[in-house]
Amino acid sequence: MRRVVGVGVHVGRDRLVVVPVPATASRGESLPGESPPSPGSRLLELRGVSKRFGPVLALRGVDLDVPAGKVTALAGDNGAGKSVLIKTIAGIHAPDGGQIYWQGRPVHIRTPRDAAALGIQTVYQDLALADNLDIVQNMFLGRERARAGLLDDDSMEMSATEALAGLSVTTVRSIRQPVASLSGGQRQAVAIARAVLWNSRLVIMDEPTAALGVAQTEMVLDLVRNLAGRGYAVLLISHNLHDVFVVADRIAILHLGRMVATGEIGDFDPQTVVDYMTFGRVDRHPDGH
Ligand SMILES: Nc1ncnc2c1ncn2[C@@H]1O[C@H](COP(=O)(O)OP(=O)(O)OP(=O)(O)O)[C@@H](O)[C@H]1O
Ligand SMILES: [Mg+2]
Repeated sequence: MRRVVGVGVHVGRDRLVVVPVPATASRGESLPGESPPSPGSRLLELRGVSKRFGPVLALRGVDLDVPAGKVTALAGDNGAGKSVLIKTIAGIHAPDGGQIYWQGRPVHIRTPRDAAALGIQTVYQDLALADNLDIVQNMFLGRERARAGLLDDDSMEMSATEALAGLSVTTVRSIRQPVASLSGGQRQAVAIARAVLWNSRLVIMDEPTAALGVAQTEMVLDLVRNLAGRGYAVLLISHNLHDVFVVADRIAILHLGRMVATGEIGDFDPQTVVDYMTFGRVDRHPDGH
């Protein structure tokens, strides 16, 4: 299928228009000062991670590797534990057992601030942005730059523009427009650019395309590939197997809190993934029984 790695956003009189940018324009580029880790190098590893809510064992001894420069899809049926797993990585839930490793070292991620300090940013579907604020304000929310006691708008605007440009979201004329006026895909682009701006190493996305149309979905998937091409690790939750097979390098499948399959996406076909998601195993016989 056609793969466009970058997108440009042109601001018309009252709307943004997404245009493709050739892959060569963006893949492998880095922001100034950014030193991407080599693709496939160790970044996040979970070993035997468990989480219980009263009688519910939401995670049962989960092992997961999320290497740099790769898109890892996290699949599973409703209630499988996907959101609990990413909230455990993001410092929202404390695990009851097991160990999380970051670049090979054991870590305790107790708060979202701990996660951010390591370089983990989570892009949520709906909670990503403050509607009434503009693009720059959203990107610097809670981390505003000041100079001589005043907000340093020039510096923040420059960095916001650079972050969008680095993702090949290049020609936004008004980074001062409220994000309420952006489409779903453009909001995702701003949220992803914010993650890039804060020197993240791992970007976690929970159903980023769930509410998007076809063109917007393609734009967000292109941004995801762009991130991985620049050395970021991406952990992507998606119910949409088409998206998973288009964008992921690796897949990890949860079933009732257990990690039932992990590996290179090329080693799976859609039916196998559905079987793991539904039954926790592959149980097909040639004669149909
Ligand atoms: N805060 C909580 N308190 C109690 N139980 C919870 C809590 N959060 C999740 N659970 C339970 O943990 C299990 C896993 O839930 P989780 O939200 O991770 O599923 P999911 O894979 O994200 O599903 P979906 O695809 O529907 O989003 C479910 O049985 C759920 O009811
Ligand atoms: Mg969920």
